[in-house]
Amino acid sequence: MTERAPGKPRIVGDRLLRELAREYGTPLYVYDAATIRRQVAELRGFDLVRYAQKANSNLQILRLLRGLGVHVDAVSAGEVYRARRAGFADSEIQFTADIFDRFALDLLARHPVHVNAGSADMIEQLAAIRPGTDLTLRINPGFGHGHDPKVSTGGAESKHGIWYQQLPAVLERVERAGLRTTGLHVHIGSGSDFDNLSRIRDSLAQAALAAGGALKTLSAGGGIPIPYRPGEPAFDTARYAADWRQTQRSLEAQLGRRLVLEVEPGRYLVGAAGLLVAEVRATKNSGGIDYLLVDAGLDNLVRPAMYGAYHHLSIIGRDHEPQAPRMVAGPLCESADIFTQKPGGTIEPRLLPAATVGDLLCIHDAGAYAASMASNYNSRCYAAEVLVDGGDARLIRRRQTLDQLVALEEDLELAAPHRRDR
Ligand code: LLP
Repeated sequence: MTERAPGKPRIVGDRLLRELAREYGTPLYVYDAATIRRQVAELRGFDLVRYAQKANSNLQILRLLRGLGVHVDAVSAGEVYRARRAGFADSEIQFTADIFDRFALDLLARHPVHVNAGSADMIEQLAAIRPGTDLTLRINPGFGHGHDPKVSTGGAESKHGIWYQQLPAVLERVERAGLRTTGLHVHIGSGSDFDNLSRIRDSLAQAALAAGGALKTLSAGGGIPIPYRPGEPAFDTARYAADWRQTQRSLEAQLGRRLVLEVEPGRYLVGAAGLLVAEVRATKNSGGIDYLLVDAGLDNLVRPAMYGAYHHLSIIGRDHEPQAPRMVAGPLCESADIFTQKPGGTIEPRLLPAATVGDLLCIHDAGAYAASMASNYNSRCYAAEVLVDGGDARLIRRRQTLDQLVALEEDLELAAPHRRDR
């Protein structure tokens, strides 16, 4: 078969990819610093870019972004800790969540990180550790949208945010607790689209007029999509920022005060900046279907299994060879460990060149929600991560060792079980 699927350029040169795979082994995440810098620059129309580090929380990626003047969002004690370890000042970190677990509350009592609350019960809990503090409220505007229903974070089916009709009551509750609402935030979902993201502006404007008084920041949230498929158009960030600027100016005029306009992307900054490189370890035909079996699995990238998400695939050195429909699957003892599937789990063969054992497969756009969602399922060690910056390539996370894999279960005095009556 000679039919050819459209390609997508690899962000790092083939020679370097081969060298890195040889040196650090596969599966291997390879990130490109220049792509991250370019994506940050695309958002200069906003006053402040706040990186949603859940997309990729590697310390060196955080340090790179900090160097570009980006601030950071954290959703857990661990993410606050990472941000601080990466060198962010407490004033550059914002904690956004719908609950404080006790671990996070304890950490926030020690570090004055600004809180963006998604549930009203957080108000008194925050007042107890930090009397008189400022806070931001995350609004659920009554609608949501994302690349898959599982990543929509608005509407009645979503657990996130404060329901927009309850805002007046919640604002009063903030005052009663002796706190000040200085910011409003809306995030409707991840990998959304222009039209849905644009609807946020009216919702936030209405909320801002209700909150009035002490307001200092408006956050558009994240959710900006990236083109995963070859030929998909890029999101018009300039127009998006200009539209937001209008909303900001009109609110500033009505409220008689300056507002800082924030955007909070994760995927947009790092998604296209990563490749997951895997080695083909077997090929076979089952019932007429051609399979490439590779050494990366859903433990390294769960998005296809979890959302039926599309990631472009290419094989180094074979871009110009004839293509045929093939399935690409990982090594796990789990039927969903297939990179070529659609939402709902239907398999979807992809046009790919023939490959043989030892070939390197690239899974594109694996900079966001890949390493950060990795697991040790099937007792597979976490893969290594490398950051390429121009001609320079640096290991930014070592491959986990087998000893590290079991370390938390060893030396636990297993002979002395916990007993309540002791
Ligand atoms: N801000 C808040 C409050 C969020 O909850 C999220 C994502 C973001 C910002 C960043 O969204 P982004 O710009 O990256 O779309 N695991 C899913 C994505 C879940 C995102 C959850 N929250 C995926 O792989 O598509």
